Amino acid sequence: IPLAGVIGMPIAHSRSPLIHGFWLRRYGIKGHYVPIPVMPEHLAEVLRALPRMGFVGVNVTIPHKEAALTLADIVTDRAALIGAANTLIFRPDGKIHADNTDGYGFIANLRQHAPDWQPQAGPAAVIGAGGAARAVVASLLDGGVPELRITNRTKIRSEQIRSEFGARVVVYDWAQAGNMLEGAATVVNATSMGMEGKQPLRVPLDALSSGALVTDLVYTPLTTPFLAEAQQRGCHVVDGLGMLLHQAAPGFERWFGQRPEVDDDTRKAAL
Ligand code: ATR
Repeated sequence: IPLAGVIGMPIAHSRSPLIHGFWLRRYGIKGHYVPIPVMPEHLAEVLRALPRMGFVGVNVTIPHKEAALTLADIVTDRAALIGAANTLIFRPDGKIHADNTDGYGFIANLRQHAPDWQPQAGPAAVIGAGGAARAVVASLLDGGVPELRITNRTKIRSEQIRSEFGARVVVYDWAQAGNMLEGAATVVNATSMGMEGKQPLRVPLDALSSGALVTDLVYTPLTTPFLAEAQQRGCHVVDGLGMLLHQAAPGFERWFGQRPEVDDDTRKAAL
């Protein structure tokens, strides 16, 4: 019986076991997907032990995404570019293969919920420059966005992204976040602001065009204050839960041999 799971700390609130558990039941697959709490100092040891325990792979979440990349034997180009891994495959030859499917999940979610949206349509504006933002930036550039504007409270992180991802990236001051939205076709909150218990993201939306697609990586609550305000301005908004569902699909397929469908029932299972 193949075993998979998600390693992180804390891990009790992860939605991934709900999503994978739903797919295992839906497709009648005899397998298990479990949450595994791991302290950073134990990560290397745990990754060596899991394959011996029957695990075929794991998802990786906070705070292990960067360390998992350095512990892997084989790293995909996109995981290397992003600098983090979220999906590990334990190969029969003992090697650990690391990938990052967050950018894929981001794009697949937008394509599902905004079928007319195209990254090429115009400049994208990304708010935030952490690990999640790097996956979003990589996927938008890969999708052919003509210009990628980015702003972050800590400016050096945006500048680092510019130096790694190249000339289409334009860095804005945090105080200029509102101006960055002018003419943007795609707007993304990739900070953790707006999450339950945290401050909402406060960016003036006056420059935002009603034709823009606006999305948020935060999915607790599903409609963040930022999305609610964009919706009031007539923008097409897409919440962040679908990114979580879609990033899970490639791992499930690799571990359990069935490409899962991401549909409304999957979404309900994750809520
Ligand atoms: P993740 O992997 O979720 O991206 P992260 O790398 O810790 O996590 O990044 C969190 C993001 O939210 C960063 O862009 C962070 O800004 P800083 O780089 O300046 O820390 C942003 N963020 C979190 N709390 C914030 C706040 N109160 N104000 C502004 N930005 C905030």
